[in-house]
Amino acid sequence: MESPTRNPEMIHVVSKTDNRQHTVVNIPPSLDQTLPASSLRAQPVLLGLTSNNLSYARGGDLLHWWKTYPVPPTTPSGYNDQSSWGIVPAWGYATVTESSIPGILPDSLIWGYWPTATSPTLLRLEPRDLEGHWVEVSSHRQQLMPIYNRYEQTHPDEEKNLDERAWCALFRGVWVAGYLLNEYVFSPDPRAREPVHPLGAASKLPWSADDADLSSAVVMVLGASTKVARSFLWCLFDRPKESRPLGLVQVTSSPGALQEVADRKGWRVLSRTLAYTEIDQATRWIEGLQPSKVVIVDCGARDHVLHQICRNLQGSELRLCKTVIVQMGGQQKVYTTEEVQAARAAMQSLGKIQYNTSAIQDTVIDREGAGTYFGKVSHRWKEWLADRASAIPDMKLVWGQGIAGAMGIYGGWEKLSNGAVRPEEGLVYAL
Ligand SMILES: NC(=O)c1ccc[n+]([C@@H]2O[C@H](COP(=O)([O-])OP(=O)(O)OC[C@H]3O[C@@H](n4cnc5c(N)ncnc54)[C@H](OP(=O)(O)O)[C@@H]3O)[C@@H](O)[C@H]2O)c1
Repeated sequence: MESPTRNPEMIHVVSKTDNRQHTVVNIPPSLDQTLPASSLRAQPVLLGLTSNNLSYARGGDLLHWWKTYPVPPTTPSGYNDQSSWGIVPAWGYATVTESSIPGILPDSLIWGYWPTATSPTLLRLEPRDLEGHWVEVSSHRQQLMPIYNRYEQTHPDEEKNLDERAWCALFRGVWVAGYLLNEYVFSPDPRAREPVHPLGAASKLPWSADDADLSSAVVMVLGASTKVARSFLWCLFDRPKESRPLGLVQVTSSPGALQEVADRKGWRVLSRTLAYTEIDQATRWIEGLQPSKVVIVDCGARDHVLHQICRNLQGSELRLCKTVIVQMGGQQKVYTTEEVQAARAAMQSLGKIQYNTSAIQDTVIDREGAGTYFGKVSHRWKEWLADRASAIPDMKLVWGQGIAGAMGIYGGWEKLSNGAVRPEEGLVYAL
């Protein structure tokens, strides 16, 4: 009997040495291989792409993101060399196609960190701290930070609403970074809740209640229209009056839309939103607020902006107050080797503090327990989802289809690499 025709299985591969080079290749069907015990295969069905995916490629060796889904040995020659080619993972949903895990049935929908591929992917999962939460235990993934090895079965309610699922695929992976920054690093009540260093407790670096206190600070958010910044800002806007900073400066290519949100949240007097060409205006305004510190959250500002701001601060009365720079992320572009080196040098010379979402989440799970922590995050995330029309009124989903071509993941990578995704666009892909 003839076997039924199957759609070709495709993977999007990116060159590890030059992330601008990428292509789509067909691979032989994985269904022909026997499923090991305590494993499942799941096929990605809905993925989001943001600048964060560029970081997974840029830091893929250092932070082991390339190890999540190495190119399969069956990949056609030219692209099967795991030292040269990699698969960039993306946040979203996958449908289980086969399972030997009691408790996970075929057709279930799982949230997590998936390959940019249409092929069913093999995961070895063990149940963890919370019902519906699973951890990937394959040896090749053990150097990955824990957040990337956690998978969640979805609730049937979540499965009904495609629009909400698309916003989840786009935002949820980075939203948690903004939430943790506001809740734990700059905790609204640092004397009641022990604050967490941006690199987590395992770093053993000190982070006191004074470090966490924003009540006499001015906060500057660079790259304020990034999804991670918008998430942080949404949480910040909701702080009780006594724990708000003295002022907020948002720096962005999209000042009109962002100031409108701040105004609507009651931050009109407290905030200024500036285009990159207007950053020199920030210093005088901040001086007038007489802060004891300036906290800069760099979510991926354009070239030289941070240096310019630091020079401005140094040349003003503000040189006497403390400056804290939290390095959230890099720009929406592929960095050359020289640019990566320059970014590392700037970490040192500007005294930037690296931010690490996984390390903070691990600290909080340790301190509060997984049940309490995930209960709180999930509650707040649902509030954001319900409030998204007012939190990000300018943003729209830009749907793509599949892996190949301009409308597929291939086209999304092309746009991201060229800094061509506009602040109001959210790339999501139905596979
Ligand atoms: N450290 C962590 O744990 C952590 C966690 C989450 C995310 N991140 C990092 O944070 C950064 C932002 O991630 P995201 O996914 O939120 O980003 P995103 O939403 O895809 O960012 C889009 C924004 O990038 C800004 N941008 C900067 N340079 C650009 C350029 N050359 N062309 C076009 N846009 C440019 C624009 O904002 P403006 O116009 O407002 O500048 C644009 O709206 C990434 O580097 C990501 O890896 C780090």
